[in-house]
Amino acid sequence: MRRSRGGAGRDEPLERSLSGPREAHAARAASLDARDPLAPFAAEFHRPAAADGRKAVYLCGHSLGLQPKAAQSYVAQELADWQRLGVLGHHAAARPWIGYHEHAAAALAALAGAGEREVVAMNSLTVNLHLMMVSFFRPRGRRNRLLIEKSAFPSDRYAVASQLAFHGLDPAEHLIELEPRPHEQSLRTEDILACLEREAPRLALVLWPGVQYLTGQLFDLGAICAAARAAGAAVGLDLAHAIGNVPLRLHDWNADFAVWCSYKYLNSGPGAIGGCFVHERHAAAFDLPRFAGWWGHDKARRFEMEPQFQPIAGAEGWQLSNPPVLSAAPLLASLDIFRRAGMSRLREKSIALTGFLEEAIERRLAATVEIITPRRPEERGSQLSLRLALPAPAARRCHERLTAQGVIADWREPATLRLAPVPLYNSFGDVAAAVDALAHAVGA
Ligand SMILES: Cc1ncc(COP(=O)(O)O)c(C=O)c1O
Repeated sequence: MRRSRGGAGRDEPLERSLSGPREAHAARAASLDARDPLAPFAAEFHRPAAADGRKAVYLCGHSLGLQPKAAQSYVAQELADWQRLGVLGHHAAARPWIGYHEHAAAALAALAGAGEREVVAMNSLTVNLHLMMVSFFRPRGRRNRLLIEKSAFPSDRYAVASQLAFHGLDPAEHLIELEPRPHEQSLRTEDILACLEREAPRLALVLWPGVQYLTGQLFDLGAICAAARAAGAAVGLDLAHAIGNVPLRLHDWNADFAVWCSYKYLNSGPGAIGGCFVHERHAAAFDLPRFAGWWGHDKARRFEMEPQFQPIAGAEGWQLSNPPVLSAAPLLASLDIFRRAGMSRLREKSIALTGFLEEAIERRLAATVEIITPRRPEERGSQLSLRLALPAPAARRCHERLTAQGVIADWREPATLRLAPVPLYNSFGDVAAAVDALAHAVGA
């Protein structure tokens, strides 16, 4: 596959002999698929059926990733070991349950750009966010504000507002919400950095997304983390839409913490076990406030059942409970696929696929569809967010028509259609078919 700035094969002329843009895109999709070294991975995933029984075109990995076929055998193994061994499975299962989360550490560390001691699979995203804020949101004196972006995912906003209230602070005064300039969809890095400088003396914590859930904007996390730390604030990242989607370098970026879920690009199933990063410089910061549980206690002495909590050094020290083995098993199945595919190859294909989608929309649907995701590949992941130039009920009906044609995408009120071609299981042919269906749905 050749890399081009904006997308797949932009450097190749469209087949001129073909009768129209639809046929030309289909032909180019077929040729790109034929040369895609990652194409065989699609066969490792179950693909839902459309209403007519054919395989759906699934562009919803930003919401719930597809099921790796191997997930079933990973879960079946644990059910079988539980049947066969009962409680003895904690030590005698094929993957002993007592350290089950440890099997995810190496692959998660690779995806997060972190050391193995800096990551842990545990809980779910919002739970981890609260646990991290207990340790890293420590308002003191004038330094008592928390910065997020205005369109932060609602759960994050609820979490930070409740943490402020927990500290006796009023979100109306102590929560800073940065929004894009008027008539712009994305935040400019320069505006984020200027805000960090302006608010520096008052900031206790900056909580930022890796990829914005609604617009698909990928932020310059290195610059944001550096500026937040220079401002004297702690910095945490919500990587729900970033992990498994874009390469990350959490250790080098010096984030204090990060949290994520595993049911989107990590394909680990609804409500799957989440994840957490804590920077190595806090590994032995045992004096930090933290909410403790026995699974964060010194492993060697956990079963001595002592009353005094002694945290494990590193991210594992923030664990509360023994790992939910059945919800962690699909994560291991998926991480094995990531290990074999490799994040740099996935990113290369993701840029090509998303560029191909962008190009097809521009050529065929520019009159009715506006792309609100940043246009530079380095400012986005796999997702394109679209606004349809139609009244709200008609736009919503387009989403329904897409579903009826077997294209599974996602609609966010009041007016955003989100499409995510995922390099592990989507093809260029999927993208061409989705654009055909969208053209039909909008009547173009
Ligand atoms: C950006 C973002 N943050 C937080 C959440 C909440 O995740 P959970 O329900 O796993 O806590 C989501 C869920 O989709 C999300 O997209």
